[in-house]
Amino acid sequence: MPAALPLRTHVTDASPLVYGCMALGGDWSGGPITEADVAQAHAAVEAALEIGITLFDHADIYRRGKAETVFGEVLRRNPALRAKLRLQSKCGIRFADDDHVGRYDLSAAYIEASVDGILQRLGVERLDILLLHRPDALMEPAEIAHAFGRLKAAGKVSHLGVSNMHAGQMRWLQTALDEPIVVNQLELSLAKLDAIDVGTTFNDPQAATRPGGIAWAGTLEYAQQHGMQLQAWGSLAQGRFNDPAASPAAQAVHDIAQAHGTTPNAVLLAWLLRHPAGIQAVIGTGNADRIRACGDATRLTLSREEWYRLYVTARGQALP
Ligand SMILES: NC(=O)c1ccc[n+]([C@@H]2O[C@H](COP(=O)([O-])OP(=O)(O)OC[C@H]3O[C@@H](n4cnc5c(N)ncnc54)[C@H](OP(=O)(O)O)[C@@H]3O)[C@@H](O)[C@H]2O)c1
Repeated sequence: MPAALPLRTHVTDASPLVYGCMALGGDWSGGPITEADVAQAHAAVEAALEIGITLFDHADIYRRGKAETVFGEVLRRNPALRAKLRLQSKCGIRFADDDHVGRYDLSAAYIEASVDGILQRLGVERLDILLLHRPDALMEPAEIAHAFGRLKAAGKVSHLGVSNMHAGQMRWLQTALDEPIVVNQLELSLAKLDAIDVGTTFNDPQAATRPGGIAWAGTLEYAQQHGMQLQAWGSLAQGRFNDPAASPAAQAVHDIAQAHGTTPNAVLLAWLLRHPAGIQAVIGTGNADRIRACGDATRLTLSREEWYRLYVTARGQALP
């Protein structure tokens, strides 16, 4: 068998878990952060570090910039933390306001200005990884490559990744880049199965019952073939499996959690980690105790039977 490509490279992290910072920074008002916001963010960062996480995922839009601002404040007050963590952020989404309809913008000028804002809010000189948050219908690979080249030369960004892009878009973007796209961050969980379903239902009438699902075709395979790190956002399914009475899938998650003496959240994460693509799960709970409990997932390997029981129950329809 040929040697496997390195899936989780030095670029991202040795941990299969990433801490998603969208819950930090208080409300979405864009107003000032509070002392309570700083305390919550500090507790979350410490809890994440405790379970071995060192990669922290941001976006310029989270809490309208306040997630990055509060994180920057935590770093400013605790300078020793900086050396313990890696920073990833995203740009390319513009909120709707008086001047703009809500839209995407991966123009060179917007990317470069966004990175300056990110660095300023985080209070750091360099981002480890910049992700293009969503595909922009008007994106041009050469222009993106130019922007990344300038950011890299200026020492502002080390690596480029993408988010919510399918295989064709990554392949196209890669043609203009001198360096590999290191990450693709997708929504993937027991509540969002498209990327997996598109493979298992190929060549079956079920594929036609999932409108839009075909767009995912080859996305997981592209990442694995190119040694690209996949990251799953929404990895805790936004708490939707918390109540066992909510659905048969939630019941299955609870049964398996009970059998292993762990939490439903740990089972949701272990389900992602069991996939051979070496997926990193981005956890978005802002609750320090829930963050700590997620650490169990790294010690839990689901059997094939358990994995498929969860998958088939969650999709709500037998596989072809
Ligand atoms: N690339 C993208 O387009 C994209 C989009 C969205 C998010 N993200 C990233 O991915 C991260 C995670 O995504 P996410 O926040 O959508 O999903 P998530 O991690 O699946 O869910 C987090 C949410 O679920 C709640 N939750 C989790 N476990 C719970 C439980 N046992 N009981 C009750 N509530 C529970 C949390 O509430 P508490 O805080 O109260 O625990 C929080 O509101 C984000 O922080 C962000 O970094 C990326």
